[in-house]
Amino acid sequence: MVERTLGIIKPDAVSAGHTGRILAMIEEARFRIAGMKMVRLRTEQARGFYDVHRSKPFFPNLVSFMTEGPIVVLVLEHEDAIRRWRDVMGATNPTNAAEGTIRKKFGTNIERNCVHGSDSPETAAVEVAFFFSAAELL
Ligand code: CMP
Repeated sequence: MVERTLGIIKPDAVSAGHTGRILAMIEEARFRIAGMKMVRLRTEQARGFYDVHRSKPFFPNLVSFMTEGPIVVLVLEHEDAIRRWRDVMGATNPTNAAEGTIRKKFGTNIERNCVHGSDSPETAAVEVAFFFSAAELL
């Protein structure tokens, strides 16, 4: 089934100049980019986006990291897009990520792991709507 997932190129990767290479890997994996924009999250937006992690010890660091600079948000379309994008990204901790994955190539550590992806169809719907109106998805 053709699905949509939300991808984010995080502030570490954007500021390091990896945006183009990550987009190339996305296109090489044959995703169709249905939406794309560069934004800078304000603190309250980052707290809202990561609300499920609010009680975790890493939450304050996560919010300050995600607001430190611009991010690129993407809606990626493909058969089984949610699982496929997670495979292309690699494990959350770049140390454990497989060779050839985005996090292996460009991630620094579990906190600065260069990309985000939705983890379920329910989360994907919420996360896509967080950044994009229906009219912005082409
Ligand atoms: P992401 O896929 O964006 O979803 C939650 C983020 O929290 C995760 O990537 C990591 O960047 C960040 N994070 C920081 N520390 C941890 C941790 N110990 N376990 C899981 N996620 C963490």
